[in-house]
Formats: sequence, C-alpha cells, structure tokens
Amino acid sequence: MSAATVSRQFARAALRTSARQTFATSSLQAFRQGGRRFYSSEQPKKSSAGPLVYVAGAAVAAGAGYYLFTQSSVSTKVFTPTETDYQKVYNEIASRLEEKDDYDDGSYGPVLVRLAWHASGTYDKETRTGGSDGATMRFAPEGDHGANAGLKHARDFLEPVKAKFPWISYSDLWILAGVCAIQEMQGPTVPYRPGRSDKDAAACTPDGRLPDAAQGTDHLRNIFYRMGFNDQEIVALAGAHALGRCHTDRSGFEGPWTFSPTILTNDYYTLLLNEKWHIRKWDGPQQYQDKTKGLMMLPADYALIGDKAMRPWVEKYAKDNDLFFKDFAAVVTKLFELGVPFKPDTKTIIFKPTNA
Ligand code: HEM
Repeated sequence: MSAATVSRQFARAALRTSARQTFATSSLQAFRQGGRRFYSSEQPKKSSAGPLVYVAGAAVAAGAGYYLFTQSSVSTKVFTPTETDYQKVYNEIASRLEEKDDYDDGSYGPVLVRLAWHASGTYDKETRTGGSDGATMRFAPEGDHGANAGLKHARDFLEPVKAKFPWISYSDLWILAGVCAIQEMQGPTVPYRPGRSDKDAAACTPDGRLPDAAQGTDHLRNIFYRMGFNDQEIVALAGAHALGRCHTDRSGFEGPWTFSPTILTNDYYTLLLNEKWHIRKWDGPQQYQDKTKGLMMLPADYALIGDKAMRPWVEKYAKDNDLFFKDFAAVVTKLFELGVPFKPDTKTIIFKPTNA
C-alpha cells in the first residue's frame, strides 16, 4: 500500500464521525438544490446596472456586513448577518468538506487554506494594496498568475456556498473557508472578523507578490517583510505545509510534506529536522525527498533550517505543538486580516468546529 493510500485512509477515518454524517446529508441536498452556478473566473459585467445595483454598491461602500436584496423594484430589504448566520456558512463549508472526500488526500481543506493565503499574501504594507479585501483572484490577470494555479478547485468548491448565502462577499467567504478548513482539520481555533468587500478586476495585484518556492530565505524575507511579518512569523506560517501536497500540473513540484496531509500538526517541523533530505533525482524542478521517497520539501522549506535566525523557531515548534498552534493561530489571523478596513465595532467570531 502506498504512503498516499495509507494517509488517505487515515485522514478519512479520522474525519468521519456520525455527527458529521448528518451535515453530509443536509449538504448534499443543499448542493442539489444549489441552482445557478456562478463561475469564479467570470469577467465583471459591463455596467448596464439599474438604480438598484447602485443602491447596493452604495451599501457596500458604506460598510461591509450588509446585503441588499430585492424581490421587486418596490421592496428593498437590508439583511445584516449575525454571528449565527456566519456559523451557518461555516457549517455548510464543513459539511461540504466531509461530503466531497474524493479529492486529493480525502479533503479540499488544504486547497481552501491555500486559497485564503494567496488571497491575503498579495498585501503590500507600503502601498496598502492587495490582501484579502477584494477577492480579485476571481479575475484575470490575478487568477492566471502562476502562483495561483489550481486554486480554481477551491474557488469552484465554494460556489454553491456563495449561491446559498449570497449576502456574504467572496472575500469574506474565502477567508471564512480558510478558517473553517484549519479548524476542521483539527488545527487551532482561528478568530474571524467579517468586513471585506469585493473589488473589480482593476484592483488585481501585479504578478510576483507571492513567494517562489525555488528560492531561499533572502527571498522569503523580501516577500514576507513586505506584508509586515518577521522571521518567527515566517516560520510559524510555513507550518501550514503540514497540510496538502504539491501537484506537477500546478507548481511543478510533487508530493506531500507529511504523512497526514489533512490534519494540522507540527509534523512539518519534526520531519524537516529529523529526516535525512536529499535532492530528488527526476526531471522536475529541484526538490528534496526523504528516504521513503514518499515525502518532499521545497527548497524554500529546506532553507529554513539553514538560516541562523529561523532554525531556532523550527526547533521550538518541532518540540512543542501547543506553542506552534498558539503562534500559528495568531499569525494566520494577522495574515487573513492584512489590509482589511474593519469597522471599529466589528465583533470577533469564534466558530464552533463541527467535530467539537
Ligand atoms: C513560505 C513560503 C511559501 C512557499 C514558497 C509556498 C509554496 C507552495 C507550493 C509550491 C505549493 C504547492 C502548490 C501545488 O502544486 O498545488 C504549496 C502548497 C500549499 N501551501 Fe504553500 N508556500 C508558502 C507559504 C505558505 C503559507 C504561508 C501557507 C498558509 C498559511 C501555505 C499553505 C499551503 C497549503 C495548505 C498547500 C497545499 C495546497 C494543496 O494541497 O492543494 N503555504 N505552497
């Protein structure tokens, strides 16, 4: 049995509980009733908007958190979502994660985390551009940037959720999905604040703002310092690579970092330190391989243990999963909120995981 098969079975067994089964059924019905699908790569419509659209635009501009919908031109209702409404969105995503377990290692969770990170990781603190406020990856050119290859799977996974809860912006939805995926994959509690509004294609960020996996820590510092992170935070964020895998048809790299790619643990750090990594012999891009040949590390991952300032953090997180969870929750919250103009009275929501 291959390592991938073992980990897939392990992940499925770990995630399958009778409580979740209930969600799976209701979600299946919701999915079937989903109605019209919206395509995330859809170009923004030409402005032939009637007055109602301008009213809605004004509401969004006045502050996120409101959704205006109309049955006719006479009745206009303002819907202000509550914490319970956001928890419903969370539950819907969690139930779809449970239901659609035939993807990759048994879960869309990792690719949802990657979507939330790539939406946020374009932030530039000098120009205050990019970041999760806008969801501009829906449009070319940003959706077509090499770094975003494969994220259409995550965006499409969320379309039925958007159709069921049309009041939530794509930008709030993608981040909520990242939070949900982390918690459902047994990671730490990640506090969430809504308030992002969708922007049009004109707000797309230039290519090159996300890290290049073939490079070392000088490059990582350039990229992450631009967002406002320090060395410890870079190492804590990299621990997300306990999740998911590389795909030859996306980044060109291949394989998972850990044996349990759908469960968040500090295994990324323990493996990085304790395995003997050698350069893989293949005709793909340079990457590292363990002796079982089942696991991989990117040059950018491997560089962390060769860096004097970063290595001590790899060692700390390898020794202490609680410390990793505490620091990861803090840094991922900071990442997901980069550049978001929250209203001062925005309440933080702590979502209840479905496996609690
Ligand atoms: C430190 C710099 C980083 C580099 C160079 C990097 C690079 C990559 C690459 C090349 C892949 C494989 C994509 C594919 O082929 O599908 C990947 C996947 C992934 N990355 Fe990163 N990444 C970085 C940081 C992060 C951060 C900060 C997070 C989240 C907090 C993250 C979360 C993920 C996840 C969850 C996957 C798996 C996606 C899947 O299974 O489809 N990465 N990353």
